[in-house]
Amino acid sequence: MRALNFALAFIPLFTPAALGGRLPGPSYPAPRDISSDSSLVASSWKNVTTTLDKTLSGGGIGDVASALLKNTTFSMGMFSLHDEDAQSLQYHHTALSNLNGTYGTKKVDSDTIYRIASISKLITTYAGMVELHEKDWNTPLTDIYPALKEFVKKTAVDFDAVQDIEWDKIAVGDIASHIGGIPRLGLPISSDFLIRSLVDPTLLDTWGLPPLNETDIIAQYPCLQSLGSESLKCSIEEYVQGIASNLPRYQPAASPLYSDSGFFLLGGALANLTGMSMDDLYRKGIFEPLGLKNTLSSPPSDPKDIARTVIATDLASDLRDLPITTPSGGIYSTINDLSKIGASILNSTLLPAEKTRRWMKPVSFTGDLHYALGRPWEIYRYEHKESGVVTNIYTKLGDSGSYAGLLVLVPDFDIGFTILGASNGLVHTQAIQMVADLLTNSLMPALMTQARHEALVNLAGTYAAKDADLNTTLTISVPSAFKSAPGLVITEWISNGTDIKNQLAAALIDLVPQIPAPAPSPNLVRLVPTISDIVATGQIAFQMETVNPTGPIAGHLFTKMYGAGDWVSTIDQLVYHDIPIDEFVFHVDKKTGKAHTVTPSAYNVELKRKS
Ligand SMILES: *[C@@H]1O[C@H](CO)[C@@H](O)[C@H](O)[C@H]1NC(C)=O
Ligand SMILES: *[C@@H]1O[C@H](CO)[C@@H](O)[C@H](O)[C@H]1NC(C)=O
Ligand SMILES: *[C@@H]1O[C@H](CO)[C@@H](O)[C@H](O)[C@H]1NC(C)=O
Ligand SMILES: *[C@@H]1O[C@H](CO)[C@@H](O)[C@H](O)[C@H]1NC(C)=O
Ligand SMILES: *[C@@H]1O[C@H](CO)[C@@H](O)[C@H](O)[C@H]1NC(C)=O
Ligand SMILES: *[C@@H]1O[C@H](CO)[C@@H](O)[C@H](O)[C@H]1NC(C)=O
Ligand SMILES: *[C@@H]1O[C@H](CO)[C@@H](O)[C@H](O)[C@H]1NC(C)=O
Ligand SMILES: *[C@@H]1O[C@H](CO)[C@@H](O)[C@H](O)[C@H]1NC(C)=O
Repeated sequence: MRALNFALAFIPLFTPAALGGRLPGPSYPAPRDISSDSSLVASSWKNVTTTLDKTLSGGGIGDVASALLKNTTFSMGMFSLHDEDAQSLQYHHTALSNLNGTYGTKKVDSDTIYRIASISKLITTYAGMVELHEKDWNTPLTDIYPALKEFVKKTAVDFDAVQDIEWDKIAVGDIASHIGGIPRLGLPISSDFLIRSLVDPTLLDTWGLPPLNETDIIAQYPCLQSLGSESLKCSIEEYVQGIASNLPRYQPAASPLYSDSGFFLLGGALANLTGMSMDDLYRKGIFEPLGLKNTLSSPPSDPKDIARTVIATDLASDLRDLPITTPSGGIYSTINDLSKIGASILNSTLLPAEKTRRWMKPVSFTGDLHYALGRPWEIYRYEHKESGVVTNIYTKLGDSGSYAGLLVLVPDFDIGFTILGASNGLVHTQAIQMVADLLTNSLMPALMTQARHEALVNLAGTYAAKDADLNTTLTISVPSAFKSAPGLVITEWISNGTDIKNQLAAALIDLVPQIPAPAPSPNLVRLVPTISDIVATGQIAFQMETVNPTGPIAGHLFTKMYGAGDWVSTIDQLVYHDIPIDEFVFHVDKKTGKAHTVTPSAYNVELKRKS
């Protein structure tokens, strides 16, 4: 692993701290003060709302933004696991000219009901996470839908990978993460040219499409028979029968393709596997345990509820009830309720913690480094400007008809935010995405700085052995200089009279082959949190990562791998009696997070913080 001569060619020309061997995950314990006047997070939130105010009155970030925002009714709010008052960070805008005029609310607040569109997909999956056994996610769709089993049987004789969907190879978990390779939507719930040509018969000529045999089509799609009725009451089995012989778009588990159909099928699968209706599943699995009063799995029908709902066009479209599509896009909720849902996910309130952690991981990449997807998480990878630290943002976007919304979770900071919006034009999606960018670009650096600031107050300082005869001292600092490289730095570490600081740094940096080797400064190794058990035992464990300025990775994927990958190169290499020499466990006050003591695990000595 050492002495790679060819590495000479890659001597970096500049050495930004950004290019460290970062471990994934947080750089500091999650910030606790989100909402107070002295919180940077609260002030970054205020910055955003001031910008929104200005933009709504014609200034701010420009005319285009102004037009988008003015015509969008929206509500947004923040939440944190460590600061209940974070929920006071809210913002609401009512675009009266974009509301129905007769029906629905005339002033939005945190209990205003919006259709959350495809955020429903996340709630459906959450219900599945709560109610299914782990193995159920591997159930092939053919075990659930007889029509699919029948189709696979029929096509087995002369199976054709371009013509026939391999329904028996697609698992319930695949459609929950958009990697079934199945179509986005099927007839009649799509804007298929065939449906559009019923309204506009010239369409086929415009596109030069061949005519189809109506008798055949009606025979294929049982759901077409209820087309035109206000609510499409066909069953999921009938819908599945129609799409069974659709063309595959990819082979199973090959590549992501956003599929609403997949979530109609997922709803049916959850109902089948649990023996409950989806309405019961949502209610028993999520709504009741979390005490959600304003979240509905069918459109509001009580006039009192409708009066609190944003109606941007007309009742028929905004409150359209297509029961088989509910698991994909038919849930109605408020920012208060979505915040509760988001916090419960971050907090593992309804799930065992390891299940949540497994769930909040990517399932597939996309074609872009900044985006990945999970089940059905849309994962955005935010890169902090100076340090280059990557914060993964777990989201679900909703975008349908008059409504758009976002639920956003940031596990590294234990916070999230929601935005729900609506308009009678086509501006709401762009508007809420723009607001989400404003928030993200303002909140992420503020959260990082706030977390660093709290680490300084809570963890930095000098710790010494209680036994005055033992010459053991540890000093922890939280640098804000050195281009904001994250984590804690050990500025003094004497164990029983031996100065360890420099040799620890040297030994770790030595594990990353670089020519020339960087000077083994203790500033180039950082403590970052690994196990946080503050609520139960008041402990938080840290391990070391290196800050090796190894230069740009592009073009050096293999040679930079150790330098950029502490998870494989340096972690857990220096151990004594199976205990990492570079692990430090802080014992903190459960309420404030302030450390009393720290234990360097391998040295088996508890060091008391000097006030
Ligand atoms: C708020 O905005 C001001 C002016 O743009 C900026 O100087 C300040 O750093 C911002 N504060 C936060 C916490 O984002
Ligand atoms: C906003 O709404 C007004 C009034 O309905 C309309 O005249 C204007 O064109 C809309 N602007 C945008 C950007 O949609
Ligand atoms: C997190 O879960 C614990 C129980 O495990 C509960 O006491 C606490 O109130 C929850 N916090 C939030 C913000 O949901
Ligand atoms: C449509 O197909 C059916 C059989 O699938 C056939 O009997 C009928 O003649 C066809 N109609 C037209 C107009 O081609
Ligand atoms: C689930 O689907 C299978 C296969 O179609 C069927 O045999 C079973 O009865 C269904 N179970 C429920 C609870 O609907
Ligand atoms: C409001 O909704 C009603 C009922 O759906 C509809 O008849 C009416 O056209 C809508 N008004 C506007 C301005 O969209
Ligand atoms: C401290 O060092 C002395 C001298 O080497 C040794 O005898 C003693 O066991 C050490 N104590 C601890 C707690 O490491
Ligand atoms: C503790 O050890 C350090 C490093 O060997 C030494 O410089 C210092 O003098 C020692 N302090 C005491 C009180 O013995």
